[in-house]
Amino acid sequence: MVVVRWGNGGGDCSPRWGVSVVVAAVLVAVGSALAGADAGEVTVAGALPRILHAHVGKVHRPRPPHFSPPKIATDGALSQVSPAGTSRPSRVFHVTEFGADPTGTKDSTQAISDAVAGAMKAASPGRTLFTGIADLGGAEIHLDGGVYILRRPLRLPPSIGNLKIHGGSLVAADDFPAEGYLIELSAAATNTSSSQLNYEYITLRDLVLDANYRGGGAAIVNSLRTTVDNCYVIHFATDGVLVRGGHETFIRSSFLGQHITAGGDPAEKDFSGVAINLAGNDNAVTDVAIFSAATGVLVTGQANILTGVHCYNKATGFGGVGIHLRLPGLTQTRIIGCYLDFTGIVAEDPVELLVAGSFFLGDANIVLRSVNGVVSGVNVVDNMFSGSGKGVEIVRLDESTRRFTAVEQVVVGRNAVVGMKERATFAKGVASGEGRSWVVDFSSLLLFPDRIESLQYTLAVTGGAADAPPPVPFTAHGVRNVSGNRVVVESQVPVSATVYASVDQFLGASG
Ligand SMILES: *[C@@H]1O[C@H](CO)[C@@H](O)[C@H](O)[C@H]1NC(C)=O
Ligand SMILES: *[C@@H]1O[C@H](CO)[C@@H](O)[C@H](O)[C@H]1NC(C)=O
Repeated sequence: MVVVRWGNGGGDCSPRWGVSVVVAAVLVAVGSALAGADAGEVTVAGALPRILHAHVGKVHRPRPPHFSPPKIATDGALSQVSPAGTSRPSRVFHVTEFGADPTGTKDSTQAISDAVAGAMKAASPGRTLFTGIADLGGAEIHLDGGVYILRRPLRLPPSIGNLKIHGGSLVAADDFPAEGYLIELSAAATNTSSSQLNYEYITLRDLVLDANYRGGGAAIVNSLRTTVDNCYVIHFATDGVLVRGGHETFIRSSFLGQHITAGGDPAEKDFSGVAINLAGNDNAVTDVAIFSAATGVLVTGQANILTGVHCYNKATGFGGVGIHLRLPGLTQTRIIGCYLDFTGIVAEDPVELLVAGSFFLGDANIVLRSVNGVVSGVNVVDNMFSGSGKGVEIVRLDESTRRFTAVEQVVVGRNAVVGMKERATFAKGVASGEGRSWVVDFSSLLLFPDRIESLQYTLAVTGGAADAPPPVPFTAHGVRNVSGNRVVVESQVPVSATVYASVDQFLGASG
């Protein structure tokens, strides 16, 4: 008999609180975005150059008789941004035209900043995205396949959006500041005391970010809807990509490594740094390979999703971690279809965590680490684990600091396990023999010690006791003991029988 207990009380408060905060934030954001759009149109109407004036006029008052669609090529606002003073036919800004050195010899920080400033000047006045963020109209900072040395971070001015930087390599100079990032979407260095959203819809694409072991690749701070796409981020001393505050950064189809290696590097034990540091909510990391770093992905913000992430950054045996979920008590993380390659997942006090469809190679496993003794709402299902036969557990409880005491709703099962020690929270087992007592021992399989919340069993009598004459007797029987994850069934009279038992460590619909 399975007892179904719905809505079980303890441990639910934190997750619900977390979700409602996220929802509330989104509602506020949508509300102010709408308000901002309205405000933008009203305030700009008086002071606009000709083109936007005509555009606004279309909405607010009768169209002037001379109205014609904007012609970008002849627009005065655009012509003023060309470094040569000539009119500019597009919003593609080639950094070489601003004096950047594509041979990687002299510092190009100022020149590339000037190109960004040019893109800002070319924006259609009054067009905004999220509140206070100027819409740069899809302007492109084009690196033309050059290699550019930066002595200082390329820090984008705040309050801009709809801008792409793409098509070349940025390399930190030998005196690049150690706390800097090559590209900073950050209003004030990496200071995050402000929660204001400063950037929206910035795209970093087709870039090599070579931090020269001096700093990090890109810092995306208090930004909304940022994309890092097809980037190759190397030689970072701190983080490859840092996401702090803000939300909806998509890091996709990219490659990150502190050292350029294809695995089995002789210096692997010395790898340091974090390839992707997610200190914010609602981000997605998709189809990314991380080939060296002490930590592949460090997650300290909620509601992130990792898909198709291949970590072989630093083996567990050398102290590396593939994916480190360091948000005890409110995790809200999905890890789906990832590849943990000799380096595993560490989850501190996980609350709401899904690990599914992933492949763990080389004894890589999942460690649930107790910080305050909480684990709740965790599903580890339908993964493949492959190891070397040393008996490494696919999921291990790390209770070295303190024991797990608040344990709810954990489902570990249906994993394919070869060469490692399986762990699960639900299981089936059998015990056969002649006598009055049968023990079905789940102690080496069940994840949590001495915990069986639901049990079903069948006693199938195959014969009487060896020395008893026919017929086969009926016998009363019952479960006598389930302590230590061992199910003990006893019968009233001796029989030959098989006991089939099915257990679950949690009540509910998990198994
Ligand atoms: C960040 O800014 C706040 C307020 O301006 C300041 O108090 C704090 O010291 C700054 N932190 C860092 C690390 O610069
Ligand atoms: C159940 O088994 C355990 C371990 O053998 C034993 O310590 C405990 O006393 C048993 N409980 C009962 C009710 O027999």
